[in-house]
Amino acid sequence: MTDRYCVFGNPVAHSKSPAIHAAFARQTGQDLRYDAILAPLDGFAAAVAGFVAAGGRGANVTVPFKEEAFRLSTRRTARAELAGAVNTLSFDDGEVIGDNTDGAGLVRDLVDNLGYVPAGRRVLLLGAGGAARGVLGPLLETGPARLVVVNRTAARAHELASRFAEHFAARDTLAGSGYDALDGSAFDLVINATSASLGGDLPALPDGLFAAGSLAYDMMYGQGDTPFMAFARTQGAARVADGLGMLVEQAAEAFFVWRGVRPDGAALLAHLRHA
Ligand code: ATR
Repeated sequence: MTDRYCVFGNPVAHSKSPAIHAAFARQTGQDLRYDAILAPLDGFAAAVAGFVAAGGRGANVTVPFKEEAFRLSTRRTARAELAGAVNTLSFDDGEVIGDNTDGAGLVRDLVDNLGYVPAGRRVLLLGAGGAARGVLGPLLETGPARLVVVNRTAARAHELASRFAEHFAARDTLAGSGYDALDGSAFDLVINATSASLGGDLPALPDGLFAAGSLAYDMMYGQGDTPFMAFARTQGAARVADGLGMLVEQAAEAFFVWRGVRPDGAALLAHLRHA
């Protein structure tokens, strides 16, 4: 019987995950089916239970259910525990195993697809919400010289930075701040993990943030430049990237978790960019 997977979200109709996983299945010769399932805002747990009862083997979880998926998991990987959110579920013998592949997806896109190695660099992470929390651990593990988390609500950035600094014994590397404290600092890699782009908005960034040769990375993607990408270009960032590669690579990592086979994210990304 064909193994079944899905992505739960609300909304979910525009999700690229079914097409991505279908392409990975073709690439690797795996026999599986992957659907998008719209879960009611107050009915995520029931939707998951229904899918498991129908023989589902695993699921991705997107907005707004990642925290609920975390709570629903009967076991969690260390990286999911740290992220406080789950984007990948595996159903095995009554257990619901929660994982988080977002941070691994970001790092793989940076290092493998964009050829950007964060080790020894000055990195700025914009935002302190779920998206930022999901990638902070894997980013720290790449060994940046400095990693600053900056947020509109500065207290959230302080809290996040101090929690992760403690966990990774990275008090000399990691700091949290508000945007006003950024004046005069320059960074080699600036990653936008805020949801500001969704409203066509931009965090209040000072001039001079992008060091010579810097990469500006928006975890969002859409048609053309996001407001953050457009800003980064006018501010002299050497390279600008959107989050399509992260989307593909978090999916590739989930595929690997489920199937034990690693698909070629770069090949699919090239295809999607061309299309
Ligand atoms: P997500 O799970 O997508 O990260 P979230 O937890 O609601 O969603 O967090 C949204 C993030 O985007 C927060 O860091 C938020 O800043 P605040 O904590 O100060 O609210 C940030 N954000 C959203 N809109 C923004 C804007 N217009 N300017 C700056 N930051 C913004």
